[in-house]
Amino acid sequence: MLYRTIKGLSIPALGLGTFGLKGDDGVRAVRDALEIGYRHIDTAQFYANEDAVGEALSGSGLARETLFVTTKVWPTNLADDKAPALVEESLRKLKTEYVDLLLIHWPNPDIPVGQTLALFKGMKERGLARNIGVSNFPIALLREALETHGADLLVNQVEYHPFLNQQPMIDTLAQHDMLLTAYMPLAKGRAAADPTIQAIAHTHGKSPQQVTLRWLVQQDQVVPIPRSSRVENLKANFDIFDFALSSEEMSRISALRGGGRLANPAWAPAWDAA
Ligand SMILES: NC(=O)c1ccc[n+]([C@@H]2O[C@H](COP(=O)([O-])OP(=O)(O)OC[C@H]3O[C@@H](n4cnc5c(N)ncnc54)[C@H](OP(=O)(O)O)[C@@H]3O)[C@@H](O)[C@H]2O)c1
Repeated sequence: MLYRTIKGLSIPALGLGTFGLKGDDGVRAVRDALEIGYRHIDTAQFYANEDAVGEALSGSGLARETLFVTTKVWPTNLADDKAPALVEESLRKLKTEYVDLLLIHWPNPDIPVGQTLALFKGMKERGLARNIGVSNFPIALLREALETHGADLLVNQVEYHPFLNQQPMIDTLAQHDMLLTAYMPLAKGRAAADPTIQAIAHTHGKSPQQVTLRWLVQQDQVVPIPRSSRVENLKANFDIFDFALSSEEMSRISALRGGGRLANPAWAPAWDAA
């Protein structure tokens, strides 16, 4: 496993996404992932699976400090009188005293971002979260958070895969010693079907999914969080640290970018051009 060093912290460079992994299936998938070697687990209050994640984490016998656990607060729950109680409930479900990273899941245009950041800073000071960050923030809002409100943020979690240009976001994050956590890193099956990625995969004797994840982890500022419910896919997605893409292969995959955004719900902010 490769680790990213950011703001003096060491963070596993590949995480497990858990959206949709609930109940016994969720416990089993997270348990399988931990046995394979995953140490970075991404959940959210919205996924309704923190209890399953917590059961797998606590049953693993792994020392808490070896794990990196993220959860997120849904935008309609960002009010001062709601979020702290919900985060305390998350910690009970996750069977832990703190999360390593607490994220604003989506921006809420009805609540000033400075107010939410102050609330998150307070939860960090109380020890509920070791670090705070954001998700689905476009560049202007991220800059407002960092430069106007002086927030100390670790990551922006956004959609990122070969079909979406996130280079301006990555450059902005690098200026602030922050990471991009890449959600939907496999582009919901599109990466596997792409002829360029398939050809590069053939060269390396790897699958298109492995090449796509390798392309992501080979970018210094990026941490992908693929999700899988199947042990064979969990293993394959973790088996990406024994080969490397050439700079020419990296560029060929980067050239696939252009308008490939998959997550665009009604509550999404005005996105940066991609
Ligand atoms: N912050 C946000 O707003 C946000 C939004 C979306 C997602 N996320 C996070 O990002 C995580 C990942 O995103 P995602 O789950 O939407 O998409 P993803 O990880 O790109 O793709 C997941 C899909 O790919 C399949 N898959 C995974 N590995 C595979 C492999 N090696 N071979 C073949 N198929 C494979 C899975 O099926 P199997 O289960 O059958 O393997 C699943 O259907 C989420 O779980 C969540 O934690 C965050």
